[in-house]
Amino acid sequence: MEPNRGSAATLDGLVSQLHVIFESDSVNVEEVKAVMESYTSNPDEWRKYAIFDKGRYTRNLLDQGNEKFNLIILCWGEGHGSSIHDHSKAHCFMKMLQGSLKETRFDWPKDDLRKEMVQRDVQILNNNQVAYISDEIGLHRVENNSHVEGAVSLHLYSPPFQTCQTFDQRTGHRETVPMTFWSRNGKRTQSEAPAQENN
Ligand code: SIN
Repeated sequence: MEPNRGSAATLDGLVSQLHVIFESDSVNVEEVKAVMESYTSNPDEWRKYAIFDKGRYTRNLLDQGNEKFNLIILCWGEGHGSSIHDHSKAHCFMKMLQGSLKETRFDWPKDDLRKEMVQRDVQILNNNQVAYISDEIGLHRVENNSHVEGAVSLHLYSPPFQTCQTFDQRTGHRETVPMTFWSRNGKRTQSEAPAQENN
């Protein structure tokens, strides 16, 4: 049982609060950020979902949020990173559960000219911090630059999406790629392709 609405003492409590918040059809970004920030990462609660791969970052489905959102645990081994990508018109909240990640944001490429993409800003996300991005804000790339520590992040996407666009930094050329799960509810998926499409 959680003490207050808007504050989550456990991972289960966080998931329950998110279900309540997303009963509404409109998304209050500050409210979602605040409840995700209120949860203090406890590895004993999420370790069973955090399945790493040696070669690339993994996407591990934790909860399907009554079809309103997906909650996914991403495991980033040393040196792993994503492509520059969009979020298919969804809200993207990203909370650090372990380690640090570098988020580099980019402007959308303006036209069909093959030009280097414009980098907007860089931030380092540390444990328990929450970042937010949407297609209105721009594009991003996420990287674990550590050589010694894996990073784990909890992502909420609303509405859920199955494909996104990736971008070539040097030309702005884009491609639509599938987003797959490495595991669901702590069990390794067999049939789904690894998420190399966005690596
Ligand atoms: C992200 O959007 O921040 C990570 C990419 C992913 O969900 O695979």
